[in-house]
Amino acid sequence: MELWDEIEATYRERTPTSEQRYHHIREHVPAGVASTYRAFEPYPMVIDRADGPYLYDVDDNRYLDYDLNNGAGMVGHNHPAVTEAVRDQLERGTLYTHPHELLAEAAAAIARRWEPVDLVRFTNSGTESTMHAIRIARAYSGRDKLLKIEGAYHGCHDYVLASKAAPAHELGHPERPRTVIESDGVPEAIADTVEVAPWNDLEAVEAIFRENRNEIGALIVEPIVMNVGMTEPTGEFLQGLRELCDEYQVSYIFDEVKTGVKLAPGGAAEYYGVEPDLVTMAKSIGGNYPVGAFGGREEIMRGIEGDAAHFGTYNGNPLVLRAVSTVLEEVLTESAYDHVDALGERLATGYEEIMEDTGVVGHVANVRSQGIVHFTDEPIRNYRDFDEHVDVEFHENYWFAMLERGVIPHPHHASQQWTISVQHEREHVEEHLAAFAEVAPMLADRQT
Ligand SMILES: Cc1ncc(COP(=O)(O)O)c(C=O)c1O
Repeated sequence: MELWDEIEATYRERTPTSEQRYHHIREHVPAGVASTYRAFEPYPMVIDRADGPYLYDVDDNRYLDYDLNNGAGMVGHNHPAVTEAVRDQLERGTLYTHPHELLAEAAAAIARRWEPVDLVRFTNSGTESTMHAIRIARAYSGRDKLLKIEGAYHGCHDYVLASKAAPAHELGHPERPRTVIESDGVPEAIADTVEVAPWNDLEAVEAIFRENRNEIGALIVEPIVMNVGMTEPTGEFLQGLRELCDEYQVSYIFDEVKTGVKLAPGGAAEYYGVEPDLVTMAKSIGGNYPVGAFGGREEIMRGIEGDAAHFGTYNGNPLVLRAVSTVLEEVLTESAYDHVDALGERLATGYEEIMEDTGVVGHVANVRSQGIVHFTDEPIRNYRDFDEHVDVEFHENYWFAMLERGVIPHPHHASQQWTISVQHEREHVEEHLAAFAEVAPMLADRQT
């Protein structure tokens, strides 16, 4: 039997109820999931409940969870302090579409962490946050065009569903990538308002700014391109972009939906010591409650008091803002960062050691508590490297074999990274590594 056939057979044996329930869900819900990336072959396991660092499926398999809701769960599941705050708020009302003091409290908690953030508005997701940040940046500059980085994901509104995972034959010149629209239903005309630049190539960005002088109003970057193998900025790239944005009068947006509060209390802006004009956030600021935020320099954010629209019935609802304040003020303390960073370091070095001992070809990219394993010895520096060198199918063997051993190593797909929560302990990391030590020899056999 081929390795994959064996792994799939075991998965099916362990998850018969999931299979049955998934097909039932699919009768009512396209692809059987609430967000299309969550669907995978042969079928995703169906979740029954979550607790601390664990997820349980409907067959009562327990998984140590390093997916953590696609990186949204740095506090782990059902964190007691967050649950208590939300429970208290439940008794006091969950939605007021009038001002309330939690708005100022949560906004101030964010502003204390991010040096460049003077003012904050809340949304319900990362997608809404990037959409509105881009809008107010365009409003401020009076220019329509957006510049984004090839391969970067910024949510699923029309302006960013371009060149995030485009096929190699459509990419165009490496220094002057084409804008590839990636969803049916997104007008092709959108491509006229979005330019695409390669990651870590300052000269290429400058050439695009020059060519589009007075047309580009906003540059959005994810300071580490997380879904492209966690590719870090090299040298002075982020600061170089800051200087180019100043020169060409472009608003510089950090999309910190994933990096925010994880890389450092003040996200990538603090970690790399670079000041963007606007920052977008979501995921881990909300402790597993649905929230997003965008904030930045006062003169840009005050555009919302003029003609730049930002509306939303559920924006800034008190239920999730209680979660946000609790996460930022009580849970993600200095000692919490020390804790997850130490675990991240151990996990990454443990992977490297096991790969070396067992002869698996690969390497780990790791920044504090975030990491990813690539089963290739080629460097992954940008989207094109990832597309060329990462064998997504081979990675499936690893991912499902880890599942079989009770560990979800990261969200499903080779592009994704692990998240370590404040509720993970050293023993959980050792359990993760023990599972990998069992899986690695099988991978090594298959690679040769
Ligand atoms: C960098 C980045 N920006 C934006 C988003 C969109 O966030 P959401 O899924 O909350 O809409 C994501 C989601 O994964 C993301 O990783």
